[in-house]
Amino acid sequence: MNPKPLQDRVALITGAAGDLGAAIAARFLEAGARLALIDVDAAQLKARCERELGSSDRVLVLACNVAHPEQTRTAVDQVARHFGALNILVNNAATESTRTPVAEVSVEEWRRTLDVNLTGAWLMAKWTIPHLRRAGGGVILNVASQLGHVATAGSSAYSASKAALLSLTRSIAVDCAADHIRAVSLSPGAVMTSRLTRRYGTEDEVNRALAGKHPLGRIGRPRELAEAALYLVSDGASFVTGSDLLADGGYTAV
Ligand SMILES: NC(=O)c1ccc[n+]([C@@H]2O[C@H](COP(=O)([O-])OP(=O)(O)OC[C@H]3O[C@@H](n4cnc5c(N)ncnc54)[C@H](O)[C@@H]3O)[C@@H](O)[C@H]2O)c1
Repeated sequence: MNPKPLQDRVALITGAAGDLGAAIAARFLEAGARLALIDVDAAQLKARCERELGSSDRVLVLACNVAHPEQTRTAVDQVARHFGALNILVNNAATESTRTPVAEVSVEEWRRTLDVNLTGAWLMAKWTIPHLRRAGGGVILNVASQLGHVATAGSSAYSASKAALLSLTRSIAVDCAADHIRAVSLSPGAVMTSRLTRRYGTEDEVNRALAGKHPLGRIGRPRELAEAALYLVSDGASFVTGSDLLADGGYTAV
């Protein structure tokens, strides 16, 4: 396999201060990409980049709330200006489920979840597509979830947002196919990130709660999802568009 399948491509990754976004960033950097990393938590993003990616003129770090129309437009244009092109967008930023039963979800929580997870991905795609067209094509990867395919207790807003993201992926694929733009989604099962250790307390507790729900008998590692993301945005997936890759250890196969 080509060790540098993303050589010199410019990839914008949202939610890059989180464990999965950071793993995707590290894998894409190894694959030769230049990176624009975005997160609403600017301090955490900057600290993480310095710690894990080192200082490199191949990495640009920007604070941005993906749910904010003007901030997203400014950030996307800044990335394209800085690198002279934009080839790949990874919509990875998302809110967490608050484990609230559907009738008790507040209007505010419902709107915030849809705003970040769905509208945020749409805004980022909306501003990115003209730059991809200018580059002769590109790829938009939406990080969805196995919970966009199946329900679990107390995750109605999160699940609805991720199911809608699968639909948005298909619409982008159809609308932009003639521009040589592919749109794909990746639906992870549970992945050992701080999102889950925050919820359950420790990695052991996460495993006790979730490993048995996955036929592989364990939950995913960020690096495994980063490999799947790399495949989806690389030329090896050149005939893959409008579709979703479930990388969920068999969670939805049961
Ligand atoms: N960890 C899992 O088990 C799991 C399972 C399925 C899907 N996913 C999906 O994978 C992606 C990454 O998950 P993670 O576990 O690394 O989550 P995480 O919560 O650790 O990271 C998410 C990042 O998104 C950022 N973010 C949140 N709102 C934002 C906004 N409005 N603008 C910009 N950035 C914002 C956060 O600051 C955070 O750094 C998410 O889309 C999540 O839904 C995760």
